[in-house]
Amino acid sequence: MENKNRAQFSSKFAVVAAAAGSAVGLGNIWRFPYELGSNGGFAFLLIYLLFVFVLGMPVMLSELVIGRRSQANASGAFRVLRPNSRWHLVGLLGVITAFIILSFYFVVAGWSLEYVFQAVANNFVGKAPSDLSQVFTDFTTEAVRPLFWTIVFVFITAFVVLAGVQKGIEKISKILMPLLFVIILILCFRSLTLPRAEEGVKFLFKPDFSKITSTVVLSALGQAFFSLSVGMSCLITYASYVSKKNNLVHTAFEITTLDTLVSVLASVAIFPAVFSLGIDPSKGPELVFITLPNVFTQIPGGYFWAILFFLLLAVAALTSTISLLEVITAYVTEEFKLKRKTVILLSVGVLIISSGLSSLSLGVWSNLQLFGMSLFDFFDYFSSKILLPTGGLLISIFIGWFYKRKDTFDELSNGGKLAVPLFNIYFFLLRYIVPIAIALIFINELGLNK
Ligand code: PHE
Repeated sequence: MENKNRAQFSSKFAVVAAAAGSAVGLGNIWRFPYELGSNGGFAFLLIYLLFVFVLGMPVMLSELVIGRRSQANASGAFRVLRPNSRWHLVGLLGVITAFIILSFYFVVAGWSLEYVFQAVANNFVGKAPSDLSQVFTDFTTEAVRPLFWTIVFVFITAFVVLAGVQKGIEKISKILMPLLFVIILILCFRSLTLPRAEEGVKFLFKPDFSKITSTVVLSALGQAFFSLSVGMSCLITYASYVSKKNNLVHTAFEITTLDTLVSVLASVAIFPAVFSLGIDPSKGPELVFITLPNVFTQIPGGYFWAILFFLLLAVAALTSTISLLEVITAYVTEEFKLKRKTVILLSVGVLIISSGLSSLSLGVWSNLQLFGMSLFDFFDYFSSKILLPTGGLLISIFIGWFYKRKDTFDELSNGGKLAVPLFNIYFFLLRYIVPIAIALIFINELGLNK
């Protein structure tokens, strides 16, 4: 039954644009290249692609099924599908994960705003990578400026989410995502034509299996889930706004392909330049911020491209932070019967504190540490490498073992109207492969076997 009072995305394109907007973000352009660079290049890429299609996409489909079938928020959804059980806690875990991801994501999103202004001020011209690295470190370890941008980003996100599903989220995703794609293509072209670009291409595409370690495997798993926005009920929430006519299998396939394409293109834009400029590929979080500004200075009209790029990076981040805040908002509004506005205001308060602390932990308050990592690194590590895979594990067990196979089929086929290609394979992956693979990866890397 279609719930007439619930907000809905207006068209099929809007669904893909919004979900892809959630998926495509800093995860693709900032995080993917630096994880790939720190984890040996091709080995990481290969495992990543495998995990995206074999583990990530089945979990994504499950989230879409859970959300659209129940037409409820992250936690309410499990209550609708399995009343009187504890499965609703998986939704709550997702809400907590959303808070933790946002606590570092807002900081990096804030950096992209700072870089818009750096680009406007033409600050990249004549700077070698080492100078750009210094600019980055000086900025991120400072107290006030990064904090300021982080808070600005929290407010922009809250403002859009306040405007509601159709007016806010849809409009932004529809227009700006395609533009981002174009800029990345231009960057790829320039990067590939720089001197010594082949070394970067080799790093990306030349097999070297000796580099595969348990750390690389867990990193690839975390990155796959993070980038696809799966494992924390974000897509459950979005799917609850999806029309009963939508073809969920197509939607999942489109989001996954698009997201993966952007990540791969982002690395093609970055690594040839990294090697051409002699930057260490395992530089970590600063990699994109010190490589691309330099590439822009070598493109005709680079001044404008750079401004546009960092602006669109901020927008890509925004469509992701919106989806994360929407998880929290939908949950608290529906479960505690509060007004959207009240919930958003409360969340803004909490998030300013948590993301503010995480920003400060990179500089002036560097003694703000947990498990030997800065608060910022801890939020990043804990959410993508522990919480998302755990969420994915639980969601796959739910659909694989605790929900009727025929109901899953019913939802994916829109009540038998659509063919569901590969349904048996999908269900097999979900029931056996996904949970076992995630469990093994955990045991292997987190030393649970020692
Ligand atoms: N997928 C987003 C990105 O790559 C981040 C995200 C994770 C968004 C989880 C929502 C949920 O930037």
